[in-house]
Amino acid sequence: MNTMRIKWLDLPDALDQTRLPMPPTTADFLQVTQLANLVTSLFWGNNDFYVSPENQLAGATSRDDVRTSYAVAREPLAGDRPDRIIGYAALSLPWEPGASADAQPTPQPTTAEVNVAVHPDFRRRGVGSALLREAEAEAVRRGRTVLQSWTDNALVDPAAVGSGPVFVSGTSLETGLTPVVRTPSESVPDAGRDRVRWQAPDAAFAAAHGYELAQMEWTSVLDLREAAGAALVAESGSGAAEEHGYDLVGWEGACSEEDAGAMAGLLGRMAAEAPAGALERVAEHWDVPRLRAEERARREMGLTNITTAARDRSSGQLVGHSDIETFADLPQAAYQGNTLVLPEHRGRGLAVLLKAVNVSQLLRLRPETERLYTWNAAENGAILRANQELGFVPVATHPAWQKKA
Ligand SMILES: CC(C)(COP(=O)(O)OP(=O)(O)OC[C@H]1O[C@@H](n2cnc3c(N)ncnc32)[C@H](O)[C@@H]1OP(=O)(O)O)[C@@H](O)C(=O)NCCC(=O)NCCS
Repeated sequence: MNTMRIKWLDLPDALDQTRLPMPPTTADFLQVTQLANLVTSLFWGNNDFYVSPENQLAGATSRDDVRTSYAVAREPLAGDRPDRIIGYAALSLPWEPGASADAQPTPQPTTAEVNVAVHPDFRRRGVGSALLREAEAEAVRRGRTVLQSWTDNALVDPAAVGSGPVFVSGTSLETGLTPVVRTPSESVPDAGRDRVRWQAPDAAFAAAHGYELAQMEWTSVLDLREAAGAALVAESGSGAAEEHGYDLVGWEGACSEEDAGAMAGLLGRMAAEAPAGALERVAEHWDVPRLRAEERARREMGLTNITTAARDRSSGQLVGHSDIETFADLPQAAYQGNTLVLPEHRGRGLAVLLKAVNVSQLLRLRPETERLYTWNAAENGAILRANQELGFVPVATHPAWQKKA
């Protein structure tokens, strides 16, 4: 496409939709968020991953530990009207905001996350490739050597196509909560494993650009209209936690002064201990100022965490927690966040209990929520079993891709 141009967006300080003509930075950013929402709604067949422009802008700019910039591909409209945006690459660079004076300094991450989207009417013309090249070059310019990306793909039955994962194009989830299990004969007439793999544009795109599968994740959903399993676990397990010497505590939004240090400690361990497959891990140093900065950024993104934690009665310390992310403008869906239990307190059913009690909290605080989504590494047997007990059903795969620059 000869007329296509790629440029990095100047992000507006705030969106100003009321001024006419609309400031170009606002108009551009609105086009990017519309494209992002179009891509997720085409895959999921619903608006459960809708991100408002305001929240997306806050997500790109308000955090100290990750900054996102957008390269956009434009095509001219007729006459002297502004070019329209037909694709973007979002480049997110994690940063270590700096440890407190008494801690070891944590090195800056070497990773960058890139996410490319092209409007369906403009695909297979090299737009995605041009955007990816630009984002990769920028990542390298900024000293990053490991590029990572995640895609959404429909669930398939690996047994049907031999060993290893396969990826199928995602426009097939209009069946809602039923897992989409496709056999090769349903997806491609004469499918071998590679043919099936090619059915998913994003997986094919990643592979064509030298990205390798670094970790397999499942996306699962709990239907909150029928969350009987979670309620049962919450009811039957709370007494057992008390017998073991734990009190369960819950809150919404920011954590109390009393527990902030312990909470920062739990979040630091999450980064170090969650299974990462072959993904390059980013070391994170968490302290109370970082926790508070994260809480502030979440507020700016319209995101409220609902948290349940376990307090060890003998030490008075928090030893595990589970949180759910809710967005002010997304009544129907919520996302499972971190769940972590310190090693010396594992094996007592705390993880599943924390999750179940937190689901009850969610239902009390946000009764309109219909679906709770979670993402889990395929190798994370403990959490996958816990989710199954609570009634989560796998609905998609969320493979992670990685390339060394
Ligand atoms: C993935 C995506 C960005 C590709 O954009 P695009 O502009 O169509 O990509 P390109 O035209 O540059 O394709 C480059 C190569 O990727 C592979 N590819 C892309 N789409 C493919 C498809 N539908 N089937 C098979 N291979 C495909 C091919 O190797 C292609 O080269 P070729 O056209 O010479 O065969 C686009 O399909 C999209 O926006 N998907 C939804 C968003 C998404 O999932 N992004 C991935 C996260 S990074």
